[in-house]
Amino acid sequence: MLNLLFIADVIGSPGREVVRSLLPDLRRRLGIHLVVCNGENSAGGFGLTRDAGHDLLAAGVDVLTGGNHLWDRKESLGYLAEEPRLVRPANLPPGVPGQGWGVFKAADGTPVGIVNLLGRVFMKEADCPFRAADRALEELKQRCKVVLFDFHAETTAEKIALAWHLDGRASAVIGTHTHVQTADERIFPGGTAFVCDAGMTGGFESVIGMDRHAALRRFLTLMPERLSPATGDPRLDGILIGVDPASGTARSIRRLEIRHQKVEAQGAARLLKGEEPATTVRYAARGEVAILREAGVVPLLALVSVGENPASQIYLKRKSEACAEVGIEVRRVALSEGVDTRTVVERVRGLGEDPEVHGILVQLPLAAPADARAVLEAIPPSKDVDGFHPVNVGRLSLGLPGFVPATPLGILELLRHYEVPLAGRHAVVLGRSDIVGRPLATLLSSRAVNMTVTLGHSASGPALTELARQADVLVAAIGKPETVTADWVKPGATVVDVGIHRVPAENRRGGTRLVGDVEAESVARVAGALTPVPGGVGPMTVAMLVSNTVRAAKQSAAARV
Ligand code: GUN
Repeated sequence: MLNLLFIADVIGSPGREVVRSLLPDLRRRLGIHLVVCNGENSAGGFGLTRDAGHDLLAAGVDVLTGGNHLWDRKESLGYLAEEPRLVRPANLPPGVPGQGWGVFKAADGTPVGIVNLLGRVFMKEADCPFRAADRALEELKQRCKVVLFDFHAETTAEKIALAWHLDGRASAVIGTHTHVQTADERIFPGGTAFVCDAGMTGGFESVIGMDRHAALRRFLTLMPERLSPATGDPRLDGILIGVDPASGTARSIRRLEIRHQKVEAQGAARLLKGEEPATTVRYAARGEVAILREAGVVPLLALVSVGENPASQIYLKRKSEACAEVGIEVRRVALSEGVDTRTVVERVRGLGEDPEVHGILVQLPLAAPADARAVLEAIPPSKDVDGFHPVNVGRLSLGLPGFVPATPLGILELLRHYEVPLAGRHAVVLGRSDIVGRPLATLLSSRAVNMTVTLGHSASGPALTELARQADVLVAAIGKPETVTADWVKPGATVVDVGIHRVPAENRRGGTRLVGDVEAESVARVAGALTPVPGGVGPMTVAMLVSNTVRAAKQSAAARV
C-alpha cells in the first residue's frame, strides 16, 4: 500500500513550527511514502515565499501546493518559477509562472501525479477546474497511475461535483481553502478518496488560523485591519490516504488532527512532555487496528492482576482506556489477594491458549503468595506485550526482534521525538530493575541506538553521584522520591525521570503532590532538558503498550494466513 499524507493549509510560522515538530515522527510511525502540503498561507498567513517553502521542504514535505493566496506577495512569483516541488493552480491563463501539475517519486519509487486546482464559486475568476482536471489527467496518464488533486475551493457542492467528475480516474480529491476539517471522508464507488476540506495547520485559538481579536474587530467595525497568524492551540490537520500503487485506486482515507505541545521550559531545561509523541503512537495504532478489524481480527489484550494494589488499579485503568481509545478490546482478569501461584499460572496458560487473546499483561506486583516469575514465564512469548518473558529479555540482549518493555521503548521514542542526540553519547541509567533500568541499558547500547551506557544502582554507593554527573542522558529509575538533585547533573544534560510518587505537601489541595525520582526544581536549573512528572514518561509507557499489543495481533493474524 502506498501511504500519502496531505497536510492541510499551513498558516504562517506557527503552522510551520507544527510541521517541523510533528512531521518526522508521523513519517516514521505511519510509514508515509509521500507528503503533500498546502503552503499557500505559510508565509505570515498569506502567500508562499522562498523562505517559508524551504522551511516546509526541509521539515520533510515532498510537494507544496497552492491556492488563491499564492500571489499575495510579489516574491512568490519568482519562487513559483524556480521551485520544481511546488504545484500552483492549473486552471489559470497561459503566462502564469510555475506548473499546474507534476509527477513526484514516492519513497517506494511509485510515481505520483499531484494537481492543484482553484474553485470558481465565490472565488476570483479562474478557468474551468473540471476541464483543467481532464487535461491534467490526459497528460499524466502516460506517466503515473496514482494522482492526487488538491482542490482549493469555497463550496462543498463544487468540491463534491469535482470528486464525482474524477471518480475512478483520480486516486484522491482533497478539498482545501475553508480551513475547517470536514468529517465527510469517503471513497467514491470508482475508487477515488475524497474529503471536502482537510482543515488547517496552525493556531486553532483563532478565526481560521488568524488572530481572533483582530478578525472579530473586522466583523464588528467593518474597518480594515491587518491580520496575523494565531499562535494559541497549535495543531496539525491532515488526511492520510492509502492507495493501491498498481491501479491507483484508493483503499483507505483517514482524517488526522494532532495537537502540538509547544516546548516549554522550566528553569534552563526544555520540558520533554510525553503527550505529543504518545498521540502519534496511538494514532498509528488506531489505523492498524482499523485495518485488522476490517480483516475480521479484533485485537484483544488480557490484563491480569492479583490483589488490589492502589497504584496498580490506576495503571490498569489507564491501560484499559488507552486500548479502548484505539479499538483494542480488553479482558480483565482480576484475581483476589491470597490466590496461589498455580491458580494464577493456570489462568495465564488458559489465556495463552485462547486464540482470541493477542496480548497478556500481568500487572506487577502480585499480591503474596503468588510468585511473579513463575506467572510471567507462563505467558507465551508471542503474547508477552510487556516483554518480561525470558525469551523476550534474551532476544533484546541479542538484538533480535521481540517485545521490548513499554517504559524503555517509550523513553527511546520520547528522546527520538525531541531529537536528543544519542549515538556516541554517554547514558547513565540509575536503577537496575527488570522493568526499566536493565532493558533500557540494553536498548540504549544496542546497535540501533549506539550509546555508551553505564548502569548505576543502589550498590554503587557514593560513586553513583559521580557517575550521574558524567551523563549526557541521565535516566532516573531508582524508585525514591526526589533523589537526583542538581549536583548529580552535568550542565546541559538531558534528564529522564521515570519515578512517580505521591508525597505530603502542606500548601497543596489534598495535602499531597506528585514528584518523580528527580528534584525537578533544582535539576531544571542545570539540565538542558527534563521530562516532567506527571506527563513525561507515563503517557509514553501506555502508548507503547498499545503499540506492542497491535504488533502482537498483527503477528498472530499473519501467522494464521
Ligand atoms: N508495574 C509497574 N510497572 C509495570 C509495567 O510496566 N508492567 C507491568 N506488568 N506491571 C508494572
